[in-house]
Amino acid sequence: MGYWLDRRHWGQGLATDALQTLVRWGFEVRGLHRVEATVMAGNLASRRVLEKAGFQWEGRRRSAALSSGRWRDEWLFGRLSDDRPRARRARGPTGKGAHRRGRSPRQAR
Ligand SMILES: CC(C)(COP(=O)(O)OP(=O)(O)OC[C@H]1O[C@@H](n2cnc3c(N)ncnc32)[C@H](O)[C@@H]1OP(=O)(O)O)[C@@H](O)C(=O)NCCC(=O)NCCS
Repeated sequence: MGYWLDRRHWGQGLATDALQTLVRWGFEVRGLHRVEATVMAGNLASRRVLEKAGFQWEGRRRSAALSSGRWRDEWLFGRLSDDRPRARRARGPTGKGAHRRGRSPRQAR
C-alpha cells in the first residue's frame, strides 16, 4: 500500500484510517502474521501515520531508495498480528521531539 493525499485533505486522519482498515483486513481476513512498511527517511508525517496504526520502527535501510537521481535511506517499520496498536511515537533516529505541526515532510527532512 502507498498513500498520497491531496494537501487540502492532510491532517484529518484519512491516511491512518485507510492504513488501519487495510492492516486489520490483512490480519483478520487474510491471516497475515507480519506487515512491513518502508518510508523515506525524514518523512515524519508518514512515519506518524505508521505509528498511529501500531507499527514499530525497526531500523534504517541505507541507500535503499533512488529518488530524484539520489540514493536515500529508508526507515523500516513492522507490525505483528499480536502487536497491540499504540499511538505512541516509536523510538528511532528522530522519534523524540521530531513532531512539529505545520511542517511538510519535505521541510522536515
Ligand atoms: C503522509 C500523508 C499521506 C498523511 O496523510 P494524512 O491523512 O494527513 O495523515 P493523518 O492525518 O492520518 O496523520 C498525519 C499525522 O502526521 C502528523 N504530521 C503531519 N506533518 C508532520 C510533520 N511534518 N512532522 C511530524 N508529524 C507530522 C500529523 O500531525 C498527524 O499526527 P497526529 O494525528 O498525531 O497529530 C500525507 O501527508 C501525504 O500525502 N504526504 C505526501 C505523500 C507521502 O509522503 N506519502 C507517504 C510515502 S511513504
